[in-house]
Amino acid sequence: MTTETVFIIGATGNIGTSAVQGALNAGYNVLATVRNASSAAKLFKNLSQTDDSDVNKQRITTVEVDCVSENGVKDVVKKVEKGELPAFQHVYACVGGPYSPTPLLQVDTKTLHEHMTINFESNFFAYRATIPYLLTQSHATSTWSICTGSQGSLGIFAAPAMSQGALFSLCVSAARELQDTNVRFNEIYLALRVETDRSAVEHGVVRASEFANVYVEVLRAGERVRGKRVLVETREDIKGLRWVDKVGDA
Ligand SMILES: NC(=O)c1ccc[n+]([C@@H]2O[C@H](COP(=O)([O-])OP(=O)(O)OC[C@H]3O[C@@H](n4cnc5c(N)ncnc54)[C@H](OP(=O)(O)O)[C@@H]3O)[C@@H](O)[C@H]2O)c1
Repeated sequence: MTTETVFIIGATGNIGTSAVQGALNAGYNVLATVRNASSAAKLFKNLSQTDDSDVNKQRITTVEVDCVSENGVKDVVKKVEKGELPAFQHVYACVGGPYSPTPLLQVDTKTLHEHMTINFESNFFAYRATIPYLLTQSHATSTWSICTGSQGSLGIFAAPAMSQGALFSLCVSAARELQDTNVRFNEIYLALRVETDRSAVEHGVVRASEFANVYVEVLRAGERVRGKRVLVETREDIKGLRWVDKVGDA
């Protein structure tokens, strides 16, 4: 049987590193976006904090792309279609970063745009570029996952909150539109702070390699976890999945 591949968009960050680890742990190969060569080096350095195996490194293909630009991920998919990069059956979108604490009335236009562009738009572009490919491939057990933050419900930091709110809406539309397709869509709703392993230990937060288990479980869950918001609100939630439906009856 051919090993399946997970396309991880935003692979070099805290959640991306965890996604790569989770995909490898679940037995998948990885196609990972990197911004440039130094960001690729950062990914391998982050991973080596828990796993220094050459075998695992060989299971990762990196591709340089600007995930924030409208056509960045689309161009990667074109290369996949031409056979220049490995075919993929799964996607995990985890682009993000800006986290300004500025109160709502003081959020200037530049700050608003930065949060919406990097935290929201890039993940929307990733969705728009990869879903047609997955639908066309018709692989029976494809998945599409995204990590959102509970800041979107808390609203303590206005700009990140608004960008997460937009992602929540993207997720409900995606869950609805993909309901009867070959693509099992899920939102991973995170209310804990996750960082790459060394920095997590320093800051007393959750290690990327620990959070990786959530993605392993999502990949392995099968049809019972489709169109869900997977809730990660406590460390217990990392050990076993807990979820609610994204799409209601209304
Ligand atoms: N970490 C958490 O605890 C946590 C909790 C809840 C929700 N989330 C959500 O998860 C998502 C990712 O968070 P994170 O902590 O993993 O963020 P991060 O460590 O800052 O990583 C974000 C990823 O996006 C890429 N990126 C950011 N700005 C970019 C730009 N201008 N151009 C190209 N690539 C860019 C980064 O590339 P480089 O590595 O090259 O910078 C990296 O791959 C966010 O939407 C966040 O809200 C995270």
